[in-house]
Amino acid sequence: MSNLTFGIIKPDAVRKGHTGKIIDKILADGFRIRGMKLIHQTIKNAEGFYAVHSERPFFGELTEFMSSGPCVVLALEKENAVKAWRDLMGATNPAEAAEGTLRKEFAGSIGENAVHGSDSDENAAIEIAYFFSKLELV
Ligand code: CMP
Repeated sequence: MSNLTFGIIKPDAVRKGHTGKIIDKILADGFRIRGMKLIHQTIKNAEGFYAVHSERPFFGELTEFMSSGPCVVLALEKENAVKAWRDLMGATNPAEAAEGTLRKEFAGSIGENAVHGSDSDENAAIEIAYFFSKLELV
């Protein structure tokens, strides 16, 4: 169990002006932000990040959306961070997300669902390294 995970505030949430509110909730939930930056991904970058989903029917839609505008990438620290961040995000499909979760409050659809989080410690390490250099992690 690692104390680090990786998160994204996706382009839909940034576009709607929800970045500050989401960061407030992350801090209020007891996470320490170890890395954070605003980036605008190219489609190639998004394709590389979501390569595990390349055979899925929604891959084109997903990578176009993720490169459609700025997003905020985050390295987050908390005890049992992967589960803690997934709990705060809520279910992938906002229609199934519990009250009080970020996706319940901010997500519009399963595709444009406001936030991303790693699904395992192993993927958290891979995803943090995909976006952050050592100097950018404090
Ligand atoms: P995320 O946690 O970023 O990881 C993969 C993403 O694929 C997921 O969030 C969803 O936003 C997206 N996704 C999953 N299922 C669908 C779907 N049926 N249609 C469109 N996008 C999807």
